[in-house]
Amino acid sequence: MYSQKVMDHFTNPRNVGEIETPDGVGEVGNAKCGDIMKIYLKVEENVITDVKFKTYGCGSAIASSSMATEMIKGKTVEEALNLTNKAVAEALDGLPPVKMHCSVLAEQAIKKALQDYARKNNLDIPGLTDIEIDDDHDHHEEIED
Ligand code: FES
Repeated sequence: MYSQKVMDHFTNPRNVGEIETPDGVGEVGNAKCGDIMKIYLKVEENVITDVKFKTYGCGSAIASSSMATEMIKGKTVEEALNLTNKAVAEALDGLPPVKMHCSVLAEQAIKKALQDYARKNNLDIPGLTDIEIDDDHDHHEEIED
């Protein structure tokens, strides 16, 4: 039921961990399954030079975060912003329909990290500010902060 790529990125995920002094951090959670994903970005001159993730979640969420981080590394902020969960799922040679929402988590965590980066640097990134993130974990963040 899972592609080889999903299995590969699940058993051997790339870019796991955290960045000590990140330029942007994004955390999102899925209210239904309770899974949480956190993305750390290092940005230099508008290019994502490093990215790490931590995912407390299912195999598809881990494979999606691994693939998504690979896809935005070395890319510009704008390119990362345009990464869709569909593109992540396609790069994994597909996810079962019931697991598509797991890849949404990766897209949203990246967007949230980019929002954090923009906010910290007073940047107005076109298309970024009006992104609505369906984040059910606001209360979780408040506790953490
Ligand atoms: Fe929760 Fe996959 S089941 S992210």
